[in-house]
Amino acid sequence: MEIAKERTVKSMASLVEINSKYRVLDIGSGYGGTARFLAKKYGCHVTCLNISKKQNLVNQERNEQQKLSSLIDVYEGSFEDLPFPNSSFDIVWSQDAINFSH
Ligand SMILES: C[S@@+](CC[C@H](N)C(=O)[O-])C[C@H]1O[C@@H](n2cnc3c(N)ncnc32)[C@H](O)[C@@H]1O
Repeated sequence: MEIAKERTVKSMASLVEINSKYRVLDIGSGYGGTARFLAKKYGCHVTCLNISKKQNLVNQERNEQQKLSSLIDVYEGSFEDLPFPNSSFDIVWSQDAINFSH
């Protein structure tokens, strides 16, 4: 992960309590760098929701390479219409993505 991005993730994470029991939803998750950072650091479960099939495939490949697939699920879909039941997550995370909402 790039240095600036990692700093942002760490800074955001310092604002909330996260532990291994937490379920995090990352909307607009890109290639999943944040998900892997959070899963590695806290052992929490992260669900990635992203509209890009291509990015999602790369995300899944990297999760497998880093043996994090059991902690990270990747869904193709839009944050405009979340495909999850209410109360599925403890934290909803988003970086540089909601600005793409229309
Ligand atoms: C600038 S990237 C940021 C990716 C990641 N959050 C990061 O910080 O590295 C914006 C991301 O938002 C995703 N995105 C844009 N509109 C979306 C939507 N309606 N639903 C889900 N993802 C969306 C794009 O596919 C892209 O991965």
